Amino acid sequence: MSGDVAPVLELDEVSAAYGPYRALFEVSFSVESGGAVALLGPNGAGKSTVARVASGLVPVTSGRVRVDGRDMTGEPAWRIARAGLAHVPEGRGVFDSISVEENLVLSFRRRAGRRMVPASLERAYASFPVLGERRHDRAGTLSGGQQRLLSLAKVLVVPPKLLIADELSLGLAPSVIDDVYAGLAEVRRSGTALVVVEQQVDRALALASSAVVLERGSVAYCGPASGARSVVERVLERRSRTHDAGKDAGPADRTTPAKAVSPRRA
Ligand SMILES: Nc1ncnc2c1ncn2[C@@H]1O[C@H](COP(=O)(O)OP(=O)(O)OP(=O)(O)O)[C@@H](O)[C@H]1O
Ligand SMILES: [Mg+2]
Repeated sequence: MSGDVAPVLELDEVSAAYGPYRALFEVSFSVESGGAVALLGPNGAGKSTVARVASGLVPVTSGRVRVDGRDMTGEPAWRIARAGLAHVPEGRGVFDSISVEENLVLSFRRRAGRRMVPASLERAYASFPVLGERRHDRAGTLSGGQQRLLSLAKVLVVPPKLLIADELSLGLAPSVIDDVYAGLAEVRRSGTALVVVEQQVDRALALASSAVVLERGSVAYCGPASGARSVVERVLERRSRTHDAGKDAGPADRTTPAKAVSPRRA
């Protein structure tokens, strides 16, 4: 803890569900101002659900979500974004039919104002040179990796208090992953706290100071990044054992009609 400064994000015994399917079970962790947390775990563990709950895209069924010390439980996504939380979701999140530069300009105008657009473009192209090279091309013609960079560049220019990046490296060539992680390190230097959701455990742990490991919707580890690797290995091993035995990957009863809610869209 860093004295009396409130964490930039705090999940306090958060549970969440998709309809009758329970995806998170009393998940608690916090992200200190300027800190970097790796959010790890196997497929289906609940990493993206944590990201969606934090950014208001999926409602909690119990527990509290606080952003910068303010209780934001149940608040709409736009209000959580205004409070300083940016979320780059899984997938691409760019407008296909307009150019790279038009994508950036739209986002920068909205987030920083018209006067900031030229300087913002310059920063984006300095961080991600490939976007500068392709600035006049339609975003839909970029590779998947380049589209991921574009969706990252859109949020980086007005530094948020917290950036939640969900599987940025998925499907990217190693050299592009290097660019993405260099971009993340730069954002962090500018004071933005990070939650990095990753399958690439080493990359995430190298960047993060602490780690949260999820297993079947519950926290299996929450502590220094250095202690997370062995837990991740154990969780993966347990998971492959239950798979080999043909068992369901979830807890015995993950359905609870009494608490059914629908996922909320932004
Ligand atoms: N929209 C949805 N509707 C119903 N169930 C969902 C939905 N999204 C996720 N789930 C389920 O909730 C659980 C957690 O999913 P989540 O996407 O959070 O996992 P994850 O850790 O991000 O996995 P991955 O590594 O595959 O991205 C999984 O069992 C998943 O099948
Ligand atoms: Mg996911």
